[in-house]
Amino acid sequence: MADRVFVGLPKRMVRLTVDGHELEVLEGTTILEACRQLRIDTPTLCQLETLTPVNVCRVCVVEVEGSRVLVPACSRKVEPEMNIRTDSERVRHSRRLVLELLASSVDMSLCSAQVHGWLARYGATPQRFGQDVATVAQPVKIDNDLYVRDYSRCILCYKCVEACGVDAQNTFAIGVAGRGFDAHISTEYAVPLPESACVYCGNCIGVCPTGALMFKSEHDMREAGTWDESTQSITETVCPYCGVGCMLELHVQDNSIVKVTSPLDHSVTAGHLCVKGRFGFQFVQKRKP
Ligand code: SF4
Ligand code: SF4
Ligand code: FES
Repeated sequence: MADRVFVGLPKRMVRLTVDGHELEVLEGTTILEACRQLRIDTPTLCQLETLTPVNVCRVCVVEVEGSRVLVPACSRKVEPEMNIRTDSERVRHSRRLVLELLASSVDMSLCSAQVHGWLARYGATPQRFGQDVATVAQPVKIDNDLYVRDYSRCILCYKCVEACGVDAQNTFAIGVAGRGFDAHISTEYAVPLPESACVYCGNCIGVCPTGALMFKSEHDMREAGTWDESTQSITETVCPYCGVGCMLELHVQDNSIVKVTSPLDHSVTAGHLCVKGRFGFQFVQKRKP
C-alpha cells in the first residue's frame, strides 16, 4: 500500500461583509486579501506578500464593527460575519494622518506612483506641520561599491530588516536601533557596511519601497542626472552562476545593465537573489577599450 501523505486539514469558507459587499473567502485570509478580491485599493507600506506582517506603518487600517480600535488589514485574519468599512471618515482620517506624518519627516519623493496616488487620494498635506518640523534628514551613507543607504528616505517599514533576517537571507546584518523618533535602521554597533555581517545580497534593496536603499550604479546616475527609467528596458534571463535557476530582470539603459531585480512571484527566488546574481553583472558588459 502506498504511503499516505498528509495534505493539510480542509479549510472552511468564511462569510463577511466589506463596504456593504458580501463575500466568502478561505479561513486564514487577511482582510487585505479579502479587500483585494473585491478590487478595493488598500494602501500598504510595510506589507509585502513575501514577508511576515509586522504591522508598523498602520496605513492599511480599516474599521471592524464591534472593535474599539482600527485594525491593520494586512495582518488581521477574517472572522465569520465580520462587517468591515474601508472608507469611513475615521479610516480616511487615520490613513491621511499616517501619510502626512511620514511625508513631513521623510523624503518620499522616490516612492512609487501608487504611494503618491495614496497621498493625493487621502488629501495628505504634510506641509501643514510647518517648516520647523523634525525630519530624519542626514547624509547618504556611501561606504562600498555596490549599494548606498540614504536614511533620509527611510519610513522605518522594517522590510529590509525582515529580508535580511528570517524571511529571506538569515544574515541579520541590520536591525532597528533607538527608540521613538530616534529609531533607525543600523548595522551592529553602527559599523560601516563592509565591517558588518552584510554579505551584499541586496535583498534589502529589493524590498525597500522608498529608494532609501539603492544600487550604487543608480545612485551615481541620479547624481549625474543621467538616470532615465523612461528609456530603460527589462530583459528577463536566468542567472548563469549556479544551478539554482534564479530568474533575473536586467534593467538596461543605453545598452548597459544599470541594476538587477527578480520578480516577487518567481517560485525560485520570491524576489531574492545572492550577491552574484544581484551585483555580478559587470562581466556581461566588459567591452574592448
Ligand atoms: S545586502 Fe543582504 S546581508 Fe547586507 S544588509 Fe542587505 S539584506 Fe542584509
Ligand atoms: S531602509 Fe527601506 S526597507 Fe528599510 S526600513 Fe527604511 S524604508 Fe523600509
Ligand atoms: S501595511 Fe498594514 S500595518 Fe503597514
